This record gives sequence, C-alpha cells and structure tokens, in this order.
Amino acid sequence: MEENFKLISQVELKESLATTWQAPSNIALVKYWGKYGMQLPANPSISFTLNACRTITSVKATKGEPGFNISYDGMPKPDFASKIKAYLERVVDYCPWVRNYYFDIDTHNTFPHSSGIASSASSMAALSACIMDFESELTGTALDYHKMSFLSRLGSGSACRSIQGAAVLWGAHKDTANSSNFYGVDQTQLLHPVFQDFQDTILLVDKGEKVVSSSVGHDLMNDHAFAKARFEQAQKNLTTIKKALQEGDLDTFIKITESEALTLHAMMMTSHPYFILMKPHTLSIIDEIWAFRKETKIPVCFTLDAGANVHMLFPSAYKMELDELMNNKLASYCQNSHYICDEIGTGAKKC
Ligand code: PMV
Repeated sequence: MEENFKLISQVELKESLATTWQAPSNIALVKYWGKYGMQLPANPSISFTLNACRTITSVKATKGEPGFNISYDGMPKPDFASKIKAYLERVVDYCPWVRNYYFDIDTHNTFPHSSGIASSASSMAALSACIMDFESELTGTALDYHKMSFLSRLGSGSACRSIQGAAVLWGAHKDTANSSNFYGVDQTQLLHPVFQDFQDTILLVDKGEKVVSSSVGHDLMNDHAFAKARFEQAQKNLTTIKKALQEGDLDTFIKITESEALTLHAMMMTSHPYFILMKPHTLSIIDEIWAFRKETKIPVCFTLDAGANVHMLFPSAYKMELDELMNNKLASYCQNSHYICDEIGTGAKKC
C-alpha cells in the first residue's frame, strides 16, 4: 500500500549531506502505456535494465530554507527545474525531512544529450537513490529499495523499473504474487542464462524532440477505443513472457516483444488525436532485422520506445554477427550513423 511509504522513523537532521548515485535507463518488453492517479499504471509492464545508458547524479543537501538548484555537468540547467520541483513536492509527503534542506543537484548522462533516448527514467531513479541514501543516513535505517522505486515512480512512471534487478516488473499482475502498482519488483531470478547477458543495440534513427510527449500519449489512453482490450492483453502477454524468460524460450520472447512494440505504436496511431512516432528508417530497420532473422535463424528481434529509435535485442553469443550487420547495413539508417551498444545491467549503484 502507498501509505506504507510515509516516513514513521525518527529523523535527526544533520547540517549537510552529500552523495552520488548512478542509475540506468531500461527498455520495456511488455509496455506501460496508460496511467491514472499519481503515475499509477493502467497495465503491468516488464523491462530489461540497461547498463551503458546511465545518469550519474550528485546531490549536496544543506540544512536551511527548502529549495534546489540543478546543473548538468556543472552548468546551470533551468529546463530541468520544473520537473525537479514537481518531483520534490510529491516526495515531501513521503520524506518530510526534505523540507529542511536546500539541494544542490548536479547530473550527467553517459548517453549523448539529444539522442532521442529519454533520460527521465535514469535521472529520476538516480535522484531518488540520492534522496533515499540521505533518508537512510538520517534515520539510521537500511536503504529501502522498494521506497526508492516508489519515489522514482513519482518522477517518471518507468523510472521505478531502473532501481534494482536485471529485469523488473511494475504494476499489479494477476500471476505475480508480490507485484504492485506503486513500485517495481526485481525479476532477475526468472532469467534463464540465455537472457542474463542479453544485448541491446540502440539504433538512433531520430535524435530530435518527440512530437508528442509520453505524458500526453498516456493520457490519450483514457478514452481510447481499444484501451480495455489492450490492458487485458498486457496482463496475458506478461504471463507468457515471464514463462519464456524462465524457460529460455526465444521464439516466444521474440513474438511477444515485437508484438508489444507494434501494439504500443498502434495505440498511438489509433488514439484521438492520432500520431506517428516511427520514421521511414524505423520501418527499414525492422524489415532488415526480419530478413536477417529469416535468413540466418539468429534469434534477434526489435522493440521500440515512444520514439523512432529501434532497440535490437539478441543473445550475446551472436554479438559478432550482429555487430557485422550493424556496420554493413543498419548503421546507414541511423542519424549520423549513430548507435549505442548496450546490454542488460543490474540497476542503481552508489558511486
Ligand atoms: O515513464 P514514462 O511516462 O516516460 O512512459 C514510458 C512509456 C514507454 O517507454 C513507451 C513504455 C515503457 O513501459 O517504458
């Protein structure tokens, strides 16, 4: 229950606190699309945690008037301020000690700034890790990773899947006993060895700003003609993909992952107003991946975020073949031939 995250332990305020945490981005296999209330998901989702695409955040807290300043690589970043302000206002309900501090926040992303890769998941997760680190110090209690995920969700829904574990499930799922709408739960224990070092090559098709933001997209699910069926389908797909992850069943994994990516974009194309985030090169890459898979029988597949970039997922055993495909063919569909070789990671870490 949400109420459990209200702070009940005693806090002994200190004059100043400082910490640095890094948190990764994540890529959903079963997609979260549609929300209600305070960033609560309309359907459950599951993601692989990434490794190379990370945000590193340092926070210094000084006792005094509440407030904050935000910089990126040491340079003031006023565009981030409204998101951080809204986040801290939400966090205060669960961490009331926050009111007694001024926060100097400095942040850095390992991935290129305007790459079309959303940094909201990794940045909100890294900031929440810093807040929870302070709370642990002020209360003398162990780090609470569930509350860390809970706070991340208040900043950006999918951020709650970037805290702990190689695969994370978020949202009440009928076949997952400890699942919750309030925070992500670690599913690393599910992973068959073939998934434990899975690769994700991110093809940067379009590095520009999205024409429709995720929050607008989520809201459009509210009176979407297909919403009910979609939310039920996600429940079923989650049950199926969990079994595939456990059994190392790559065929089923591929079918669900690709179908989920296309369903996400189908929801966008059938909402009112409708919109398209894929670009011609997104489709060309999908075609190339399908042709390559058919020809070589190598179990490679794609997924998409809310954007034009393509995530190419495959077992590490085929890294050489897929690197070759990237260099020989796929890089030419990427903006300035840019792509990022990432892989499954483990979550947030203190630096
Ligand atoms: O966390 P948000 O509000 O940016 O939404 C993310 C939604 C998708 O990335 C499209 C899907 C997902 O489950 O991550």
